[in-house]
Amino acid sequence: MNLLDRAEEVRFQFKKDLFKVKIDIQSVENFRLRYLGKKGYIPALFREFTSLSVEDKHKCGKILNQIKKESENSIDTLKQRLNSIGIDEDFFDYTLPGKLPRLGHLHPVTQTMNEICSIFREMGFGIEFGPEVETDYYNFQALNFPKNHPARDMQDTFFIGDSILLRTHTSPIQIRAMEKQKPPIRILAPGRVYRNEAISARSFCTFHQVEGLYVDENVTFCELKGTLEIFAKRYFGKDVKLRFRPSYFPFTEPSAEVDISCFICGGSGCRVCKHTGWLEILGCGMVDPNVFISVGIDPEKYTGYAFGMGPDRIAMLKYGIDDIRLFFEGDIRFLNQF
Ligand code: PHE
Repeated sequence: MNLLDRAEEVRFQFKKDLFKVKIDIQSVENFRLRYLGKKGYIPALFREFTSLSVEDKHKCGKILNQIKKESENSIDTLKQRLNSIGIDEDFFDYTLPGKLPRLGHLHPVTQTMNEICSIFREMGFGIEFGPEVETDYYNFQALNFPKNHPARDMQDTFFIGDSILLRTHTSPIQIRAMEKQKPPIRILAPGRVYRNEAISARSFCTFHQVEGLYVDENVTFCELKGTLEIFAKRYFGKDVKLRFRPSYFPFTEPSAEVDISCFICGGSGCRVCKHTGWLEILGCGMVDPNVFISVGIDPEKYTGYAFGMGPDRIAMLKYGIDDIRLFFEGDIRFLNQF
């Protein structure tokens, strides 16, 4: 039936126009007149309605009334918006498209620590944490740094009290783990450490470490080498080579520092490896018997290895960052890149 078709058309057109109406008095009024004014589309439909047969009136009446009511309601809403713009300073247009909240992500050093930990976890290492405020006993004495030992100078400690300090490495976590657990012990100790060093692009007063410890019967230096090699190949790429250089730590004997072949230039020499072809990434060694004695583990029966690395430095090498201070400034423009 013609009138019904036309009514639906008017309804459809009204909805389309409704979206385009500008929220100002004149535009809203023009819109109202176009549809509901005396000469508007909707009254025209009603005029046609009067000449219908009783039967057709029956069919159309309800629809026409519905269209009129809907249109009146929509125009009332427009008028309300119009009013609120003028009066209410806090008017908020709920029909505007939304803005997505910005999601954060983990800090690049945390990401690096997590990646390191997950490789060792696959090799059966558990994760242990410990306090950042430590005692001299856990940070030094139990690790075979006797009082007045010159190696304490290597650590540039922040003291809080006579024998209370900010831990200079995460090795005290290993002492706590060995006090708690009987061998076999296979743990990783990640965390933040503090040293009273002159601040520069290469060193900061706080940084991070991931240390590892394995204690059992018949643990050998050979296993240490194998484990570190698996780690380095997984983390830096399968072509990476390792180099062990003799070194000294009070808590390990023998001790070594480990270099990997530069993963930027492949060993031929570049700016990152200072043209040596090698990058120093960690310290390691066999647990000193004195350390076992201080935690009550029998050094005749058990041996163990330990290693420690700096995720800040590893992240700097990986991403080509030349100033460690960037990690601690909290500048979103820097952090967003990772
Ligand atoms: N704790 C040492 C440091 O902070 C690193 C290390 C850990 C070296 C374990 C050897 C074995 O320098």
